[in-house]
Amino acid sequence: MKIVVFGAGSLGSLVGGLLARDHDVTLVAREAHARTVRESGLRLEGVVDGPSRVSPAATTDGTGLEADLAVVTVKSFDTAAAADALATGSIEAVLSLQNGMGNEATLATRIEAPVLAGTATYGAILQEPGVVECTGSGEIVLGPRDGGSSARAERVGETFAAAGLETTVADDMPRRLWEKLAVNAGINPITALTATENGAVLEEPATDLAREATRETARVARACDVSLSNREALAAMETVAKATAANTSSMAQDLAAQRRTEIDAINGYVVERAVENGLEVPTNRTLTALIRTWEQGRGRR
Ligand code: PAF
Repeated sequence: MKIVVFGAGSLGSLVGGLLARDHDVTLVAREAHARTVRESGLRLEGVVDGPSRVSPAATTDGTGLEADLAVVTVKSFDTAAAADALATGSIEAVLSLQNGMGNEATLATRIEAPVLAGTATYGAILQEPGVVECTGSGEIVLGPRDGGSSARAERVGETFAAAGLETTVADDMPRRLWEKLAVNAGINPITALTATENGAVLEEPATDLAREATRETARVARACDVSLSNREALAAMETVAKATAANTSSMAQDLAAQRRTEIDAINGYVVERAVENGLEVPTNRTLTALIRTWEQGRGRR
């Protein structure tokens, strides 16, 4: 299969690197990473089976690409730009493997190809250009963005599973996206603000805050007609925090590197949907305000 991974940061490089063992993969990445991958390949650390060095193609220019599948792994605030670049090429299908809400809709309004929704709970870190480490085993869940099943989703699921990625093809992606949102709302801002690993949200004193942010998200999901109980959301958040306990969340990585975060598409999204539905979500509101304050202080917005 000809696959483009658009946004080869930590997760994109891990997924793209594993797929590159058997497929014709092109990574769209930042300059230094793309150059190193072109010159000396991509080293995969923390993955058990198969070669630990692969040689995908790598470029910084995402326009005019041809592929059977484009896996979009850019930050949520870059989704529109990624979609516009992909729309200039010839892409048969698109899979969003991103944090936050609204990415699939943005892709679908800008690209003609069918869009699959996906979530990923792998912990990954780009150690240096050309080197990605898997720091927490997780799962990829994917399926048609409005729910239901499709032969295309099954095919992509089989391709990912054969590459060694734990993959589930789901027929309830809208609910799965909210469940993942509840996971990220609980883990990401707290680990970012406190510079801790994901496991910190399982311990006092952070755990009460993380659990409340997760519960609030489940409450908002239900107000949006998505069946997600507090218990299910908490179980999902705690399972991911345990499996990736030693991992630095993507938002913690962003703060450490002084980059813009995905707060708007995670806790900020929860606050917006809560307001629309007349709900109070004080924990999500506070976490959003703190991260936005940090971003403004750093001139990142
Ligand atoms: O954003 C992240 O870091 C990831 O979605 C997750 C699953 C929380 C693991 O760190």
